[in-house]
Parts: sequence; structure tokens; C-alpha cells
Amino acid sequence: MRKKVTVVGGGFVGSTTAQRILDSGIADVVLTDILDGVPAGKALDMLESGPILGSDSHAAGISTGSGDYRETANSDIVVITAGFPRKPGMSRDDLLKANYDVVKAVVENVVKFSPNAILILVTNPLDAMAQAAYKISGFSKNRVIGMAGVLDSARMSTFVAAELGVSVENVHSFVLGGHGDDMVPLARYSTVAGIPLPELLPKETIEAIVTRTRKGGAEIVNLLKTGSAYYAPSAAVVEMVKAILHDKKKILPCAAYLEGEYGVRGLFVGVPVKLGARGIEQIIEIKLTAEEQAALDKSSASVRELVSVLGL
Ligand code: 2OP
Repeated sequence: MRKKVTVVGGGFVGSTTAQRILDSGIADVVLTDILDGVPAGKALDMLESGPILGSDSHAAGISTGSGDYRETANSDIVVITAGFPRKPGMSRDDLLKANYDVVKAVVENVVKFSPNAILILVTNPLDAMAQAAYKISGFSKNRVIGMAGVLDSARMSTFVAAELGVSVENVHSFVLGGHGDDMVPLARYSTVAGIPLPELLPKETIEAIVTRTRKGGAEIVNLLKTGSAYYAPSAAVVEMVKAILHDKKKILPCAAYLEGEYGVRGLFVGVPVKLGARGIEQIIEIKLTAEEQAALDKSSASVRELVSVLGL
């Protein structure tokens, strides 16, 4: 039987994610939105590209405006993108309360119909929304994962590859911490064909890349004027979905619930994890310098502040 992925939220991130999953044929997809007709129309349009692309995956789109989530039943993975996007000048954190209400309603509904699913959170502010989904779902911590590090690392790799004039395939970037302005791109653990970044680029260039990575989401928001990034975010989600559905045991940076790892307790923060059929199968701990640990502590403190506003 083919795997089933529900994508909640038929905006740009949700529909592009659904499209990427369908095009690759790795699962059937149910796309949901509170709007009437839009998810059904988008899903049908995607389904009709199947004969051209050679994908037998099935797509259905449903409106959950009336709170009916039956069609999402028995999903293997539920990707939650629903929420309000950032507007220019707005931080991810401004979205906190509005998106908490959205995520709460969605999680309460999807877990009723897919009690064994793995949840991938995409809605911002990411780490706090993952924490909300974890608490509301009552799921074990391995089945609630936040998508951020894969995106932030991809942005960093893009900038590194451009700076050095090398293939993006040579670059592995490492970004820890919350998906906010104080995320922690780690140059020492970022490599080009196995060579640590500090061996290849001067300090100032690395600093510029780190700053651009931290502001990567805002850079796109400012260009788009309405809405935020969706091509790279959806590609990042699909890499995680593939790692889980194919039980790849792939190490990727994701927001995970920490219970003492990296000195963080009771909080979702971005760290390297092993993704497989059971979701987060392992949290990989690496040694940090005092400076790196301080940066991670600062980033975690920002996440904790949001989480405490929500009383989580
Ligand atoms: C981003 O970084 C919107 O958080 C999303 O593009």
C-alpha cells in the first residue's frame, strides 16, 4: 500500500510541498485548507499532471472549514503549514499567538484520525509551534519534528557554493538553534568536500554568510512583499518526508524536543537528528566550543521566551 501524507494548509508552502511529494511519487497526498474549493482544485490539478510526469500517486484536496478531517485518516505523516505568513518588517515571533490558535485546532483534529502519524511542523514561529504540537498531540517526542534546519542549512550551502564557485553537492552546512534571527550557523562543522569552512574562507566572508543565512527568510519576504519563501521550505520538508518514508536513517538538522541534550531541557530547538521510520530515532550530540554553546544558549532562550508566553 502506498504511504499517505496529509499536508495541512493549501498556501504556497503547503501546495508546493504536496506537488513535490506527488511529482516524486513517494506517497499519496491529502491537501487541506479551510478555504472551500481551493485545496480540491489544486489537488485535482496536481493529479492531472501524473500522466505527464509518470506519477501514480493520488492527490485529494479537502476543505476543513467545517472541521471535518475524516479524509486525512491514517496518514503516515502530517505536515502542518497552516497559519499566517510573515509580512515585511514582521518577525516570525509576531505570528506567535495567531498561529498558535491555528496549530492547536489542526493538531487536535488530525491526531483524532491519524493517531500513529508523525507530525512535521512548518508553521512559524517554528520551534514554539512544534512545542505546541507536541503538548497538544500527546505524541511521543520522536513523532513531532520541526522543519527549519534543513532550510537554513540549504540557504547557507547556497551562499557557500556561490562564494567558492563549487557545486552545491560539495557543501554540507550545519545550523543549530531556533529558527529565528539568532540561529547558530556553525562554520567549524560546515564542510566543502570534507574540508571545514574556516580552511577555505576568511573570517569576514564566513561572518557575512552567517548573517545572510540568519536573515535568509526575511531577505525573501522583503523581495516578495506579500508572503514568504516556499520553494526551498517545501524542498526541505520533502527531504524529511523521504528520510522517514524510506527509513533512511538520514542525519538532518531538525527542531527536536530536548531533554538535557546540548544543556537544553524541555524545549524544541534545532539539532542534528537521525530521521527514519520512527521519526527522530536519535539526537546527535556534538561538542561545542564555549562561544558556540553561548550562541546556542541565546537562541534557546529566545525560543523559551515564546514558549512561556504560550504557557507551554
Ligand atoms: C523562512 O525562513 C518563512 O521561516 C520561513 O523562509
